Amino acid sequence: MFKRTFLTLAVLLLTLPALADKGMWLPSLISSRIDDMRAKGFRLTAEDIYSINRASLKDAVVLFDGGCTGEFVSDEGLLLTNHHCGYDYIQAHSSLEHDYLTYGFWARSRAEELPNEGLNVRVLVRMEEVTDRIAAGESPEEICRKAEAEGKGYRASVEQMYYGNQQFLFLYEQFDDVRLVATPPSSIGKFGGDTDNWIWPRHTGDFSIFRVYAGKDNRPAPYSPENVPYRPARHFKISLRGIHEGDFTMIYGFPGNTQEYILSDAVAYIAERSDPAKIAIRTGRLEIISEAQAEDPELRIHYAAKHATIANAWKKWQGEMLGINRLGTVAKKRDYEERFAAWAADREEYRTVVAELKAEYARIADAYFAYELISETLAALPTSYDEEERAESCFERRRATEQALFEFLAAEYAARCPAPYLIPEFLDGLHTWGSPEAYARHLFEEVWSGEKSADAEALASGIKRMRSHIVWLLGTRSLRNLTSKRLNELYTRYIRGLREWDTQRAFFPDANLTLRVAYGSVAGYEYADGEYHKPQTTLDGIIAKDNPEIYDYDIPQQLRDLYASKEYGRWGITLDGRRTVPVCFLATNHTTGGNSGSPVINGRGELVGINFDRTWRSTMSDIEFDPEICRNIAVDIRYVLFVIDRIGGADYLFREMDFVR
Ligand code: ARG
Ligand code: GLU
Repeated sequence: MFKRTFLTLAVLLLTLPALADKGMWLPSLISSRIDDMRAKGFRLTAEDIYSINRASLKDAVVLFDGGCTGEFVSDEGLLLTNHHCGYDYIQAHSSLEHDYLTYGFWARSRAEELPNEGLNVRVLVRMEEVTDRIAAGESPEEICRKAEAEGKGYRASVEQMYYGNQQFLFLYEQFDDVRLVATPPSSIGKFGGDTDNWIWPRHTGDFSIFRVYAGKDNRPAPYSPENVPYRPARHFKISLRGIHEGDFTMIYGFPGNTQEYILSDAVAYIAERSDPAKIAIRTGRLEIISEAQAEDPELRIHYAAKHATIANAWKKWQGEMLGINRLGTVAKKRDYEERFAAWAADREEYRTVVAELKAEYARIADAYFAYELISETLAALPTSYDEEERAESCFERRRATEQALFEFLAAEYAARCPAPYLIPEFLDGLHTWGSPEAYARHLFEEVWSGEKSADAEALASGIKRMRSHIVWLLGTRSLRNLTSKRLNELYTRYIRGLREWDTQRAFFPDANLTLRVAYGSVAGYEYADGEYHKPQTTLDGIIAKDNPEIYDYDIPQQLRDLYASKEYGRWGITLDGRRTVPVCFLATNHTTGGNSGSPVINGRGELVGINFDRTWRSTMSDIEFDPEICRNIAVDIRYVLFVIDRIGGADYLFREMDFVR
């Protein structure tokens, strides 16, 4: 909310309740929000959310596999997360004889639970501000080392908040023995596939179930058959009461990356330069891949994962661009910066900071764009096809597609890269072969042949050198966003100034994959005149989409039978006069990538859903959150239980869960 101080009181009063849904708050500082939360329906205390003296909800939330969230639902380490978060591990266990991806997997006993190499979860032991210690000369490494020495399996990191204005130590207990307990078939867990990804109405049962194991002392231990189920200090009770529009919701999880405070210049870069270029390039890649998939069923399967990965961010960026333009974020921020600069005019510390930030953006934008472009084009091409790929029966049939990708991506790189950052080896290739396409064809032939290609190797080392050149230029390795060492320093000062100046604004620290609380409510949204979206979907919607001819919508026969018999048992509800099963719901929580798998909690702190997506029209919320339309998407916990019970026949798992009515 940028102009809160400048709005009239009337508008302020009208917009205030919704606007406060913005923000991802640090759990240890949640007492600053607790009054607002309680006014909106939260019944617990700040200590219930986060405490270092007693068990609190934070003990029931984990960082799952370094990029998702998960939550404990039993005192025997049973953990829920998304199907798409467990996907790689489910896939790794799948074979033709045991096709868990297709048919699902339900361990019938602890002995059947499947270990997963490389998978870990982290439970937060505590977070602690260390700004003063760092100011006094202690290094983050020293601080981490001391903290890690406190306990077995402890992992620490120091993270910046508000661009370095504050530093926090995060101390975790890391568990490396995490086993797969259950997963629904993909036709439920990935229902709607890429077609429905980022889309509402949604009908995906996006969950999977794991169990965390520990040594007999309940401490982290490497995988061993001797390990026992971990006993978390706290686990979530599961609400069977369900959700209703307007209900309070809280999301507790690990959002990865937001950029709430960046300058208009950076937003313009994203919406006008970076997103459009990346979208156009990915559109071309997806067209080439889709064409192959449409012609050849084997290639459809071969390229499925690749297509999904490319399409996920591709769709997200389209929503982000649309949202930024729709909100006029660039113009609003420009205005905000001008007003800040006017205030700062006679304050030595802040007088020039906006101008300096702008100058730094001008200095680095081309270089950073070239960096992004390499990742989207040349670096996306294979430098070899390994033996395993060559042995695949469809390998020869991929030839035309792979060659087309080489040619397309090389041409895009040549056409879009700012001249000073063109890779010298690439320029040499162009010179020798006459056009990007001819040069790409040559590279492709060599890579495809399997012989060592001197030209491909030269290009690969050129890519590497250009990337490190750009890292050097920017003075930072953290190139996830348009940034530089200098920018980070300037932002420290800028944010400090903003907080002095804009005293009415509720500043939350940008997401950085540390534990956060977001709160809001179950809500539909009106996107445009006459276009209202209800907040809840049901089994009826799944049946309406069901189509055995379309892979993404071909549901298990069991689900069709259940729908026909209406034998929903205790999972059935009556909605608008019909008997059905709830499936997904929308809420106003401010979330982002990394919040996948996060518990959605009601006012009593009970689990009502598992977060797994946002609507694509919400994705600008990483930069500007619009309370009118930004919605996260969760799978209703009652659908999860219905699937466990009626599809998996695994209701024995319920014995260790705590249901509340
Ligand atoms: N859009 C969600 C996220 O950003 C889900 C992605 C996985 N699902 C899919 N159909 N590709 O991670
Ligand atoms: N699917 C995302 C994830 O894996 C969450 C969606 C979002 O970006 O909010 O974390």
